[in-house]
Amino acid sequence: MPATPFIDPDLIAGSLYSTPARIAERTGALHAAKISGGDATAAVVDLAASSAVPAPRICDIGCGRGTTTLRLATRLAPAQLIAVDQSRALLGTVAERLDDAGHSVRTVCADFHHLPLPDASIDIAVAANCLYHSARPADVVAQIARCLTAGGRAVLVTKSADSYRQIDELIAEAGLDPDAAARPSLYETFHGDTAPGIVATSLRVEQVLRQQHVFRFAGLDQLAGYVDTSPKYHLPDRLAGSAGLLADEFRRRLRDRPVVATSTVTYVKAVRP
Ligand SMILES: C[S@@+](CC[C@H](N)C(=O)[O-])C[C@H]1O[C@@H](n2cnc3c(N)ncnc32)[C@H](O)[C@@H]1O
Repeated sequence: MPATPFIDPDLIAGSLYSTPARIAERTGALHAAKISGGDATAAVVDLAASSAVPAPRICDIGCGRGTTTLRLATRLAPAQLIAVDQSRALLGTVAERLDDAGHSVRTVCADFHHLPLPDASIDIAVAANCLYHSARPADVVAQIARCLTAGGRAVLVTKSADSYRQIDELIAEAGLDPDAAARPSLYETFHGDTAPGIVATSLRVEQVLRQQHVFRFAGLDQLAGYVDTSPKYHLPDRLAGSAGLLADEFRRRLRDRPVVATSTVTYVKAVRP
């Protein structure tokens, strides 16, 4: 078993990203609770746009459901747009969403450790919230560098290692998973403190931005909707996959109250010299 479930290949391909519904549920639970921190997708697109050549060739790596891909298409009018992910199901959603919005995209089902793209063929590469799924993120950065043109830019995004630790503490306090707060971060392999150094192994870092995002879950019901999507916790099997049962269990063990949690998002912009 790897140090963090976020780099377990079976979990990544088998359940976390096997359907668009699962990732939409997790993102939706966080968005519903977010009270400050700005729009992360807008920040990525702004950074990508700030040094874009006209009609750039763009690659969105680990594109998920394509939320960033769609905004890149709208804002930057790329000559070529490639969306890479290892989940075929998610790439199907990306193709549909881009098509519905009148944009063309080439979807590529691949492992980002072996990008099937020619050398120096991309002007802008984006890799948002995905390098923490690699045990060797420097290898992925090297692949990105290989695919970029000289002067091409990459925007890489990740979260802080202490993201949502307030929820870990609550779950430990409830006695549901006493070790939750002591276990390694989900973002262990590529987080806000380590990302700039890892990116610098193959690219020249130009800018590092940090934004603190604050989430306020109105009560234990809403919190259960998020916790149910996290692979971090070792919860009893009978609660697996049911936010309703989890909420009941929370209520038996904890006073119902709003729960505030934080995560600092780090954006690294880098250039291929
Ligand atoms: C949290 S989602 C991020 C989606 C999107 N970039 C965003 O910021 O909303 C992580 C994505 O990385 C993809 N992924 C994980 N490991 C991968 C790998 N080895 N190669 C390619 N994609 C991978 C997953 O399938 C998933 O779509």
